[in-house]
Formats: sequence, C-alpha cells, structure tokens
Amino acid sequence: MTAYFGILEVGKLKEGDVVLVSGAAGAVGSIVGQIAEIKGCRVVGIAGGKEKCDYLVNTLGFDAAIDYKSENIYSALKANCPKGIDVYFDNVGGEILNAALTKLRMHARIVICGAISQYNSTTKVQGPSNYMSLLVKRASMQGMVVMDYAKDYATAAKQMGQWMYEGKLTSTEDIYEGIENFPETFYRLFNGDKRGKLILKVLEE
Ligand SMILES: NC(=O)c1ccc[n+]([C@@H]2O[C@H](COP(=O)([O-])OP(=O)(O)OC[C@H]3O[C@@H](n4cnc5c(N)ncnc54)[C@H](OP(=O)(O)O)[C@@H]3O)[C@@H](O)[C@H]2O)c1
Repeated sequence: MTAYFGILEVGKLKEGDVVLVSGAAGAVGSIVGQIAEIKGCRVVGIAGGKEKCDYLVNTLGFDAAIDYKSENIYSALKANCPKGIDVYFDNVGGEILNAALTKLRMHARIVICGAISQYNSTTKVQGPSNYMSLLVKRASMQGMVVMDYAKDYATAAKQMGQWMYEGKLTSTEDIYEGIENFPETFYRLFNGDKRGKLILKVLEE
C-alpha cells in the first residue's frame, strides 16, 4: 500500500518518467520499482550488494541497479540516469537523498517515504544540503504516511492483485518464526540481511 500510493499519488508517476528508488530490494522499494515498470518508466534501483542488484534487474525487471555499498553513488547516478531523474522514491535519506538531489530534472518529485539510514543515528540527523536543486529545478519533495490512504486500500489491493495474477508484480516474503527471535529479526531491517518483506511469525503455544 505504501508503494502504491507513494509512487502513484505522491510521485505523480507518468509514462516515460525516469524513476530512482532506494531501499529497492526491500518490501516497499521492490513494489515501487515494479509499479513504475508496469507504467512504462525507466527504473533504477539502489540496494546494498551485488546479489540484491542482480535480483532487481534479472528477477524484478528493473532497468538498472546501483550497489551503494561498492559504488560511488554520485558517479553511478551520472552513469545510470544521464538525463536526470523525474521521480525519486526515498526510503533511506542521508547521503543517497543528497546525491539524488543533484540529478533532478525539471519539475521532479521526491517522495519522502522513509529515512532508514538515519533512524539509529546517535548524532544529528543528516539533512539534504543539496536542497537548492528543488528551487532550480522547480521540484517538490513531499512526505507521505500510508494510513492517509486507508479508505482506498481496497482499490489498490484489487489493482495489485490483478497485476500479481497477470505475473507483472512479484511479492517476496522473508519469514522468521518465534517472538523470542524478535530482536535479531528486527535488526535484519538495518543490516539488510533479508529479502523482500520481513515477517516474524508468532507461533501459538
Ligand atoms: N511512510 C510510510 O507510510 C511508510 C510505511 C512503511 C514503511 N516506511 C518506510 O519505508 C522504508 C522501507 O521500509 P520496508 O519495510 O520496505 O523496509 P525494507 O526496505 O524491506 O528493509 C530495510 C532496507 O533498508 C536498507 N538499509 C538499511 N540501512 C540502510 C542504510 N544505512 N542506507 C541505505 N539502505 C539501508 C536495507 O537494504 P540494503 O541491503 O539494500 O541496504 C534493508 O533491507 C523504511 O524507511 C520505512 O520506515 C514508510
């Protein structure tokens, strides 16, 4: 639901847009990228590690992927988005958001969905010092919270269900068991040791 409303309503996706998504191999990001592909966009994902980047391109059909752990994000964006970005769907904040700001096209939209790189920061949250690009490119940056769209969840579920039925949309779940495993499971969100949507199954006594 977060992906659906974030990219379509807040990102105001249009056919032919160049879409950049961070946290791209995660629950939200992987759906964002696939919806953008369905809508006829060029999609570039950012994820940590070769395996996740290969998964984005070879399994989910992204046009390109950037491994932020081994590549310089600024030169990788220049290489993969030579004409700039129309929509940046941000799940991570920090330096990746700052880099994306340098590649905006005119009237670009940035969807602020999350900032996972900043959640556990023990120092000041890193702000986007390149924000002047918003001015120069007449761009917008808007936060979103999925609950605001609750009344339209059924419509979104119907559409996404149809895409899944047609084989256009894939949802991956990574399921762990037992409430006693909550801490190490939760930590997987931050170290990236997970695939798709992370779920902890609580077993009955
Ligand atoms: N606004 C809303 O309504 C709403 C609703 C749900 C979720 N969210 C937000 O959306 C984002 C994605 O949520 P999700 O449930 O789909 O999680 P997720 O993307 O499935 O999991 C988190 C991923 O973040 C990446 N990550 C962790 N630390 C990072 C860092 N320092 N820099 C870059 N990437 C990092 C890891 O992937 P790598 O291995 O690629 O590093 C990890 O797998 C989160 O920020 C979450 O808070 C917002």
